[in-house]
Amino acid sequence: MIKGIGIDIIEIERIGNLINHYGDRFLNRIFTKNEIRYGKSKSNFESFAGMFAAKEAFIKASCENNINFKDIEILHNQNKRPYYKVGLDSPNENYYLSISHNKTNAIAFCIISS
Ligand SMILES: CC(C)(COP(=O)(O)OP(=O)(O)OC[C@H]1O[C@@H](n2cnc3c(N)ncnc32)[C@H](O)[C@@H]1OP(=O)(O)O)[C@@H](O)C(=O)NCCC(=O)NCCS
Repeated sequence: MIKGIGIDIIEIERIGNLINHYGDRFLNRIFTKNEIRYGKSKSNFESFAGMFAAKEAFIKASCENNINFKDIEILHNQNKRPYYKVGLDSPNENYYLSISHNKTNAIAFCIISS
């Protein structure tokens, strides 16, 4: 059964400006070590923006306002498919994630099932 859905869209430039301005201080506040390694492996900021959108989409789907961004981790399987690793009540198999980006925006969609 679907318990919640969430979607978020973000301008890649906005995340890029924050990274350029605040550097590691911003990255370490929002992203885990794995996410930072993944984001930095890309030539642009699209993956950081996609992972940021994925965190916001999860918060919308879960109605959980007191959750730290770093507690919602975005990982990738061997096919590069993104998935959530979150330390909440539901097992991680109950979280579904899809991310897309073009030149300007990144978008993420999250489903939480029971
Ligand atoms: C998956 C695929 C369709 C993405 O197409 P695309 O138009 O280039 O991708 P978009 O720009 O819309 O989205 C990119 C995001 O898709 C996600 N993604 C990548 N591979 C994925 C996969 N295998 N399954 C699901 N999502 C995937 C990632 O989050 C990626 O963002 P990132 O590069 O920041 O990690 C394409 O890479 C592909 O055809 N892969 C080979 C076949 C495949 O794995 N299909 C999956 C369905 S079974």
